[in-house]
Amino acid sequence: MSCALTAIENFIIMSEAWTPNGFASSILGMNLYDWQRDVLEALMPVGSKVTLRAANESGKTGIVATAFVIWHLALFPGSQVVCTSGVWRQVVEQLWRHLRKYGNQLNWKVTQDTVEAPHGAKAIGFSTTDGGKFEGFHADDHYKVPLAILVDEAKSVEKEIFDAIERCRPTRLLVQSSPGGAGGGFYDTCQDPRFRHFKATAFDCPHLGAARAKEVEQREGSTETMLYKSMIMGEWMVDPNQTFICTQKKDWTLNSIHGCCSRRGRKRECTCYKVW
Ligand SMILES: Nc1ncnc2c1ncn2[C@@H]1O[C@H](COP(=O)(O)OP(=O)(O)OP(=O)(O)O)[C@@H](O)[C@H]1O
Ligand SMILES: [Mg+2]
Repeated sequence: MSCALTAIENFIIMSEAWTPNGFASSILGMNLYDWQRDVLEALMPVGSKVTLRAANESGKTGIVATAFVIWHLALFPGSQVVCTSGVWRQVVEQLWRHLRKYGNQLNWKVTQDTVEAPHGAKAIGFSTTDGGKFEGFHADDHYKVPLAILVDEAKSVEKEIFDAIERCRPTRLLVQSSPGGAGGGFYDTCQDPRFRHFKATAFDCPHLGAARAKEVEQREGSTETMLYKSMIMGEWMVDPNQTFICTQKKDWTLNSIHGCCSRRGRKRECTCYKVW
């Protein structure tokens, strides 16, 4: 009897290991917060579309996105994971740094913008303002050779990219960011009823918590500023008096953060928020 129970328990443990959240915990050794587990769990079903709007430095890239990508590559031979962000540096310096760590541990082939498992599953990373770059990605078979798309730092990704992603009909789609202005592709996606939506505040993250909230409150002088609302509470930046429009990259200074980006004619416009 005890032997049979052990076999069943082993089976349950093994089956859980093949869900994105189970894989992250038991294979990658990540110690997930509840909301991170919920987001990863929501990415299990074929056809899942998920948004995550969360506080700054809450673990979107290093935990949620990384676990999602490595899980997909490990589980589906020959599959593809397309990873994008509005900013190339973010792909290389943030996401790929984490993917490289696990890719190397697993003895996979890792380059500056690809990760390839020995059974042919491959992740590629790029940032783009050209929706045409998404042409050609599709799932050969949503169950056996699926396509996953990850949009990180989605608040700085232009609206037309979201349309291009829709046309690829990914098997699984994760769109995540700290929130920007109440407009643009990320904002619209977060209102889309076809998606499951998740939100996490700094208070949901033990490594940030009240200490980080206090630090930002003291720097900002209030909990009512848009920066506090976005960075700590994961809320949209909706006060037009606290934003300004950048039309050139050089205007994105160290003293501002991106709200959301859109294209007017040939011009790219970003709503930015003055920080301090
Ligand atoms: N479950 C966790 N356990 C321990 N540390 C965590 C966990 N989740 C996140 N962290 C910590 O959070 C920090 C920030 O992680 P990460 O860069 O992935 O956050 P982010 O949300 O992508 O940040 P940004 O808003 O800058 O894009 C890291 O130092 C990481 O160790
Ligand atoms: Mg990040």
